[in-house]
Parts: sequence; structure tokens; C-alpha cells
Amino acid sequence: MQVQKIYQLVNFLPVIHTLHLPKLQGVRIHFTQCTPVPAQLEKVLSMTSPVTVIDHPLVLHKLSLMRDKTTPSAVFRKLLNEISLLLTYEVLRDLPLTTRTIETPIEAMEAPFLAGKKLCLVSILRAGNGLLSGMMDLVPSARVGHIGLYRDPKTLKAVEYYLKLPDEIESRPVILVDPMLATGNSVSAAIDRLKQAGAKDIRFMCLLSAPEGIKALSAKHPDVPIFTAAIDSHLNDHGYIVPGLGDAGDRMFGTK
Ligand code: URA
Repeated sequence: MQVQKIYQLVNFLPVIHTLHLPKLQGVRIHFTQCTPVPAQLEKVLSMTSPVTVIDHPLVLHKLSLMRDKTTPSAVFRKLLNEISLLLTYEVLRDLPLTTRTIETPIEAMEAPFLAGKKLCLVSILRAGNGLLSGMMDLVPSARVGHIGLYRDPKTLKAVEYYLKLPDEIESRPVILVDPMLATGNSVSAAIDRLKQAGAKDIRFMCLLSAPEGIKALSAKHPDVPIFTAAIDSHLNDHGYIVPGLGDAGDRMFGTK
């Protein structure tokens, strides 16, 4: 995976000092909006899953509106849909291209087009669907899979109740989506299933993540790059991200 601009670790501390940084030691973090890290700092960061924080001002503004508990479900869904377009743009930045000859009204040219097998988008139900619809608009030819997982409220472990994946998943880039990377249990379980089905090129895209989830996922699946709009402070005793935005599914669908 191409290394994007990397946030300077030294700047990381004052800016997001509420982070439990020790929990993230050994995780490579790239911030898309910040200055490149000096070469000597790159050596400090070890080679586990690359984490890309898509901290574009538009993304952060919309995310703040979503975090606000007074934001109604309809607005929350609209914002999530808008953010999904911006995140997808970054997640798919390194897709391979090929060229074909076309005729513009002026002259012939070798024009770039996406190459290779159609993408596979996989949503972790139910909250993943809030990110999925915008992605399907952006990549209408993508195949779409669903993995139904719920969190056992006592153990916080993922329990699978549904699985439907497109064929030939082994030769497609797979983008797995869930708005919240909390403990990492559901995402890890979903990636286990994708790998069992043969998927080889998997990336995970979320809206918000906790250091605990990043660390756990990165340890279990170091080959899966993580893309997130923000890394929050920590998880509370119920496994919710702090400060977070509450239960993403409930916020989307107006349930409690
Ligand atoms: N799932 C959510 O919807 N919210 C959290 O804070 C954690 C997991």
C-alpha cells in the first residue's frame, strides 16, 4: 500500500493528547492532511497495519455534526452518506488504471479507465449500510456483500447471523465497511469470514475508531489497511467509543 503523508509523531501528542497513545504504539498512522514525517521518525513506527486518518476539513465538519446528540436521524444519515463519498475517494486512491483509445469531439486520446476485476463492497450489518449507499453511487459496478454480526452485550464478542458474498471474491479488491471500530471484534470476525471465502486484498473503512480497536485489528489482521475519519480517546465499560457518537445504528435508524 502506498504510504501517504504521515503525521509527525511529535505533533500527534499535543493535538490529540487525550488519546491513550501507548495503546497505539507500533501502529503506523498516516494523516492525509498533515505534513510528511521525517525519515528518522518512520523508523520509529513499526510495520503493522497502516492506518490512514482521512482528516479532510469537510469530513471533520460533517463528523462533528454527526457527533452532536441533537442531530436528528434523517440528518445523521445524510451526513454519513456524504462522508462515505469522501472516505471512499481516499480508500480507492491506488486502484489500478488501464487506458483505452476514445474519440473526444476534438481528437482521439488514450483515456484512463479502472482496470481489473470489479470491486467488492462488504457491509457489516446493520450500521455498515449507512456507508454503503454512497459507495454504491460512486462505484455503481461494484459487487456487494453483507455480513450480519451483532455484539453480545455481555462478552462484546461478535455473533454471526447472516452472510452473503459475491462470487470470485478471491480476485476482487474488497472494501469492508462499518462506521465504528470499537473493540475490533466484529471487524476481525468479518475479516476472518472474508479470508475463509478466499478474499486476499481487503481494506477496512470506518468513520470513527478507538485505539483499542485499531490495536486489536492490527494485531489480528496486519495485512488489512484501516481507513478512518478520526481516532477517539478510548472505549468505555460498555464498549462504546468515547467521545464517539453513540450507537451508530440507533442514531441512523432512530431506534434505542
Ligand atoms: N458501536 C457503535 O455504534 N458505537 C460505539 O461507540 C461502539 C460500537
